[in-house]
Amino acid sequence: MPKQFSLPRGTADILPDQTPLWQSIEKKVHELCSIYGYKEIRTPLFEETELFARSMGQTSDVVLKQMLNIMPQNSSEDKEPKISLTLRPENTASVVRSYVENSIDKKESLTKLYYIGPMFRGERPQKGRLRQFHQVGVEVLGPGSAFPYLDVEVIALSVGILKALGLKNFTLKINTLGTSEDKENFSKYLREALALRLKDLCPDCQSRFERNVFRVLDCKVKTCKEIVKNLKLDLSYLSPDSRNYFDLVKQGLLQIGIDFTLDPRLVRGLDYYTHTVFEITGSSLGSQDALGAGGRYNNLVGELGGPQIDAIGFALGVERIILALGETQTVEDSIDVFLIAMDEISFMKAFTLLNILRSSGIKSDMSYRLSSMKSQMRSANKLNAKLVIIIGEQELRKEMVTLKNMKDGSQKEVSMKNNNYEQLIKILTERS
Ligand code: HAM
Repeated sequence: MPKQFSLPRGTADILPDQTPLWQSIEKKVHELCSIYGYKEIRTPLFEETELFARSMGQTSDVVLKQMLNIMPQNSSEDKEPKISLTLRPENTASVVRSYVENSIDKKESLTKLYYIGPMFRGERPQKGRLRQFHQVGVEVLGPGSAFPYLDVEVIALSVGILKALGLKNFTLKINTLGTSEDKENFSKYLREALALRLKDLCPDCQSRFERNVFRVLDCKVKTCKEIVKNLKLDLSYLSPDSRNYFDLVKQGLLQIGIDFTLDPRLVRGLDYYTHTVFEITGSSLGSQDALGAGGRYNNLVGELGGPQIDAIGFALGVERIILALGETQTVEDSIDVFLIAMDEISFMKAFTLLNILRSSGIKSDMSYRLSSMKSQMRSANKLNAKLVIIIGEQELRKEMVTLKNMKDGSQKEVSMKNNNYEQLIKILTERS
């Protein structure tokens, strides 16, 4: 027997009964982003490996352990130099690459972008953690655009999207890392504070202590959590300017009624953040509880070969949003009308009518197998048809169709004398 194939680990089919929910999520994201003045950007699903390594940081878990690299099967005639490529683990780096490559900063002073699409990380799959998952995200870039109220707008949009999608039980946590110098001070402070307890940290954190001490703060191991709990994290390592910036962000959030929790341990796993960082967690999600996260990254554009450009963004995980919405979240799919033909001659008439209805924008379908009325009615019900058109010998003789309302069962005859479909189309258009 030929081999049957199954899904690669950590991926999922989005089957036709789930796509209406995905489409409704995407529709709401498009609508809301447009209301906030954001424009969609679509970048390739893979980029040069180095782009991600440089942006997310050589010491981040994603770069160290989760990059899904692509090996093109170059033919011997292929003269192109072999460049290492990677499926995008996130989209911030790709957006920055595109922003720099297209010199967008020369065309406008503030660029507000959003995206929806798949991302890829070679993680150990578990509930809420996939190797191919989807993000909706935004990135706002512009020279001299580090305005606290822009941070507030971006955070408000992330919360607004979740609310528009029907989520209620989530918590917004915010923190600030300050400038690069502040981050330097912070990491010095953490190293000093953790040095005495180094041997009590988990092996991962012992190596994090050297390569990226911030990551010790979000370690899930009990002993590390206990040690971190006792650290004094009062933002004293921040410059007055950075503290002032963060105060304005908090003030803006309060002003527009966005609830938040201050979390001095929130540092994020990717290297590029400066100043404001935030994370949104869902209370029903278990261990993979981050619905989304983001923050400001004022140095990344410069580090990726562009000019000094301030930027901020976030990404929300679509699969986790769907998990948090729970089982009840299904979007009913339906059609306007299902056509039932009672015999072969009626089938020809019904098929012609089907194509006329579709050309008029009426969502319609029929069965290609001539079967009993009962079986065709079953098909109509399965497709959630609002109306059914029945064509049989009697209808052909009287040059009309029988129109049945599937909700209340009522029936009426609609004339199609001299192949005039106008009356029928009018009724169907008004109802759909
Ligand atoms: P991130 O925290 O790595 O940030 O991912 C954002 C969200 O994507 C997570 O909170 C989670 O909901 C979802 N996510 C991440 N990994 C997985 C996975 N393996 N399976 C399912 N969902 C996942 C970023 O990606 C940054 N680029 C966000 C950003 C944009 N910062 C600034 N601009």
